[in-house]
Amino acid sequence: MNFPASPTQLYLDLLKKSLSGLIYEDAPSQVFPIGLLTAKAPNGFVRLFREHGRDVPGCAHSSIGLRRLDNIQYCLETVLQDSIPGDLIETGVWRGGATILMRGVLKAYGITDRQVWVADSFEGLPVPDTKHYPLDQFWVKNTGKLAVTQQEVSRNFALYGLLDDQVRFLPGWFKETLPDAPIERLAVLRLDGDLYQSTLDALTHLYPKLSLGGFVIIDDFGLESCRQAVNDYRNAQAIKEPIQTIDWTGVYWRRSV
Ligand SMILES: C[S@@+](CC[C@H](N)C(=O)[O-])C[C@H]1O[C@@H](n2cnc3c(N)ncnc32)[C@H](O)[C@@H]1O
Repeated sequence: MNFPASPTQLYLDLLKKSLSGLIYEDAPSQVFPIGLLTAKAPNGFVRLFREHGRDVPGCAHSSIGLRRLDNIQYCLETVLQDSIPGDLIETGVWRGGATILMRGVLKAYGITDRQVWVADSFEGLPVPDTKHYPLDQFWVKNTGKLAVTQQEVSRNFALYGLLDDQVRFLPGWFKETLPDAPIERLAVLRLDGDLYQSTLDALTHLYPKLSLGGFVIIDDFGLESCRQAVNDYRNAQAIKEPIQTIDWTGVYWRRSV
C-alpha cells in the first residue's frame, strides 16, 4: 500500500525547493560546469546544476543545491530520532539558506529546546593569512566576495516565518567568534567557509563540542584549501570515521568517539 507523504515531508520538500530556487529557476550569477549540457533555460538556469550545487543562484537563498539540503535534513532527522543532544550550526552562511532549513526542520518537528547558530562575518570572505596558510593564496582575489549583511540574512529567515529566539547569530571572523561562542554542545556542525583557515578554525573550536552520534558536514571538500584543512585536522586528532560522499564536493561523517 502507498501511504501519502506526511505534511512534514511535504513542507520540508517545498522549503528545500524554494531555498535552492528550483521552483523559480532563477538565473545563476556564476556556474561551475561539468560535461555536456542540455535543457538550459534562456536565463542560464540548468536544473542539474542547481540540484548539485554547481552554480551560484542570482536570487535563491542557498547555493548548496538540493543534494546537500537533503543531507542536512537527513542529519537533523537522524539526531532527533536518536536523541543526540546539542544545537546546530553552520559556519559560513551567505544568504542563510542552509540555516533556514535547519530552523525549518526544528519547527516542522516541534523542537523547542535546540538552537540554530548562524556564524558569518556578514562581510564576505576574509583577507587570507597566506603566511600561515599558504593554500589560501587561491582566495586572495576573493576578499569581500559573498558579502551578505546580517540584516539581510535575518530578513530572509523572517520571509519564511522562521526568525525567532531559537536562531542565534555569531557575527564576525571565525577566529574571533568561535573560541568563546556560548555554545555548550552541538549535534550537527556544518562547515561552509571555503578557506583552509576558515575550515580549520571551525573544526578546532567546534568539533570538541560535537556530541557522540552527531554529524559534521563539510560543504567544500572539493576545494583543495578546505580538503587539506579537514585532512590535517583528522590526522592530528586521529579521527578515523569514514568520510561519506554527498555530491561532487559535499561530505560528512558521524562522530563515534
Ligand atoms: C560559500 S558561502 C556559504 C554558502 C551557504 N552555506 C549557503 O547555504 O549558500 C561562504 C561564507 O563563508 C563566510 N566566511 C568564510 N570565511 C569566514 C571567516 N573566516 N569568518 C567569517 N565568515 C567567513 C563568507 O562570508 C560567506 O558568507
